[in-house]
Amino acid sequence: MQTIREIDALRRVVAAIRRDGGSVALVPTMGALHSGHMALISEAKRHGSHVAASIFVNPTQFAPTEDLASYPRREAADEALLEAAGCAFLWAPSVATMYPDGYATTISVSGVSEAFEGAHRPGHFGGVATVVAKLFGQVRPDVVLFGEKDFQQLAVIRKMVRDLDLDVRIVGVPTQRDADGLALSSRNAYLSEEERIAARVLPRVLLEAAQAIREGADMDEALERARSALRAAGFDPIDYVALADAETLTPLDGLDRPARLLAAAKLGRTRLIDNVAVEPL
Ligand code: PAF
Repeated sequence: MQTIREIDALRRVVAAIRRDGGSVALVPTMGALHSGHMALISEAKRHGSHVAASIFVNPTQFAPTEDLASYPRREAADEALLEAAGCAFLWAPSVATMYPDGYATTISVSGVSEAFEGAHRPGHFGGVATVVAKLFGQVRPDVVLFGEKDFQQLAVIRKMVRDLDLDVRIVGVPTQRDADGLALSSRNAYLSEEERIAARVLPRVLLEAAQAIREGADMDEALERARSALRAAGFDPIDYVALADAETLTPLDGLDRPARLLAAAKLGRTRLIDNVAVEPL
């Protein structure tokens, strides 16, 4: 597997793949790879003759108060994992390559970016949409795979691709979970042993609330029960536990279309997010 850091070299490698009739399936990441990422890599093999990964810890999607400096960076271990998984190449640009001096463009996807993560992390989705559009322009993949764990991110990217007529297919891959249900995330590494045990309450309360809502329970009560269970497990603050349209991410008062139950809350210094599907019966 080649690790590529310069755009010219990247273009040559991708052009050679295309000349030979190949296609590229890309898995964009910020590194610190875990089995959730590796599930995306293995799914990518079904979508392209060549699988590529990118690793770029994107500064523009972190707020000044967030964990950019301490975000886990393990490039050598990540490269070994990608190589063993049969990745054709890794695109690992520097910050200066991604955002050269004088860089001035930001993509803003209104509507779908605004609630939930958008409200709690101002500027986050502008940073995500911009870097993802740049990755698309740099790698020019046929297919790009994203995990459903960051469900709003996936919805923002789908909307950007539609609105900008980008010639790329987006594939969402179901969230990978530990045996106790906790969604895999690079940030789980920040949890203490005690917090890791409490964290399993998050997927459990989401599944319980989703089932209650599906079965016609009062929505406000079901959501308040979920918040109380999170509070009792030590989550504080709870940023949101809410139901949203599965495509537009518009907050919903009732289950009248395919929806997603989304939550974000902090356990100690670690902010966890998760979501589950809620389909009307
Ligand atoms: O989900 C992530 O790891 C990041 O938000 C992404 C899509 C790689 C953009 O930096």
